[in-house]
Amino acid sequence: MKIAIGCDHGGFVLKESVANCLKKRGIEIVDCGTNSTDSVDYPVFGEKVARLVAKGECDKGIVMCGTGIGISIAANKVKGIRCALCHDEYTAKMTAMHNNSNILAMGGRVVTPEKAVQILETWLDTPFEGGRHINRINMFTEIENKE
Ligand code: RB5
Repeated sequence: MKIAIGCDHGGFVLKESVANCLKKRGIEIVDCGTNSTDSVDYPVFGEKVARLVAKGECDKGIVMCGTGIGISIAANKVKGIRCALCHDEYTAKMTAMHNNSNILAMGGRVVTPEKAVQILETWLDTPFEGGRHINRINMFTEIENKE
C-alpha cells in the first residue's frame, strides 16, 4: 500500500502524526508537502495528491488544510477522486463503507493530531461495503463524464 499525503500551512500540524501512523503500519508514503507553517496555497497540494491517486501511482491519499474544506474541494476537481472531509470516526467509517473514498481530508484547525490519527485508522480499517453503493459511485463517474 502506498499513500500520498499533502497539506498547506493550516494542515501541517497534522502531517507528522499522520505520517508516523502510516509508517507504523508499514505503509509507503509519498509526501507532497508542504513542509512548514509558512503560508502556501492549498489547491496546489490537493491537486498533487489527487493526481497521484487518480493515476494509480498511490492507492489512497490524505490531504489536510486549516478546515480540510479547501484542500478537499481541490482534490475533488480531479477526475476519479472521491475525497471525503471527516471530523470524526463516524464520518470516516461511513465514507469508507458507502463512498469508497480514495482520499481523506482533515482540518488542522478542527481536529487534534491525536483525533486525526483515530479518524485515519478508522478510515483505513473500514472496508467498502459494495452492493447498492457501487451503482451510486458509478453515478459520480457519469457526472464527471458530462463535463
Ligand atoms: C488557510 O488560511 C486556510 O484558508 C486553509 O488552510 C483552509 O482552511 C481552506 O479551506
